Amino acid sequence: MMKGSQMFLEPFSKSEIGLGLRAPHYSAILESPPKQTWFEAIAENYMGVEKGTGGRAIRVLEKIRCNHDIVLHGVSLNIGSVDEPSENYLKRLKSLIARIEPKWTSDHLCWTGVNGENLHDLLPLPYTEEVLDHVVEKILWVQDFLGRRMLFENVSAYLTFKHSQMEEWEFLSEISRRADCGILLDINNIYVSSKNLGFNPLTYLDHIPPARVGQIHLAGHSIQKTNHGICLIDTHDRPVPEPVWALYVEAVKRFGWIPTLIEWDASIPEFSILAAEGEKARNLMEVTS
Ligand SMILES: [Fe+2]
Repeated sequence: MMKGSQMFLEPFSKSEIGLGLRAPHYSAILESPPKQTWFEAIAENYMGVEKGTGGRAIRVLEKIRCNHDIVLHGVSLNIGSVDEPSENYLKRLKSLIARIEPKWTSDHLCWTGVNGENLHDLLPLPYTEEVLDHVVEKILWVQDFLGRRMLFENVSAYLTFKHSQMEEWEFLSEISRRADCGILLDINNIYVSSKNLGFNPLTYLDHIPPARVGQIHLAGHSIQKTNHGICLIDTHDRPVPEPVWALYVEAVKRFGWIPTLIEWDASIPEFSILAAEGEKARNLMEVTS
């Protein structure tokens, strides 16, 4: 079976690693561009570019683009909502894609608002046939509008819906097949959800079609005590913990080499610490794939 992103996307070199691009690191990256590194930029941070103007952020991104490949990662496409796709949002995203020429563009398999309101959170969906049909139709429309395939990422969950008719891995796999899109597999999110909801994360990996996986995310999470026991929160505020590294190794065994990216969004450390996490991923990928 063809593995990983080989079928889907123009791959990076196997020695390259991805890091989440965050404003506190702009200076370090521009002053001393790290070798064999690509960056994932949050699309909405650079989308004020309708008239080709934009602010400092897009100018910095264009400078970084001179030395590094970029992928774009959206957080408010709102693909799972009953709202129609926002043409205003998609026009601005398309404009940014034309300007930055990312290797690919991704967003989340979730909903983020309704009736035009953005709730600024990645909210999970009930996994039903009705939702499946709805999301597939929206992804097909969006991909047609953008003129390119996208990748969709699994989000963390803390609760399940009583009326879900299938497991998350079945829903994600079926979405990718029917909408002909890629999967951005967040290993930390799988681990967080497995602990919160009580499933085996290896079962999740075993049911993902390898040829659809175009990118992997790794990140840290926090552990909180609640009245109902321990809850893992997808905080992205610390190094990747050992159980997530272990699950990453299991993913690489199943999917082969996949472009891998470290996310760190809160309590952001010096760039060298983020880069060291990337090195660890690179080394693990080399010895496992
Ligand atoms: Fe992620």
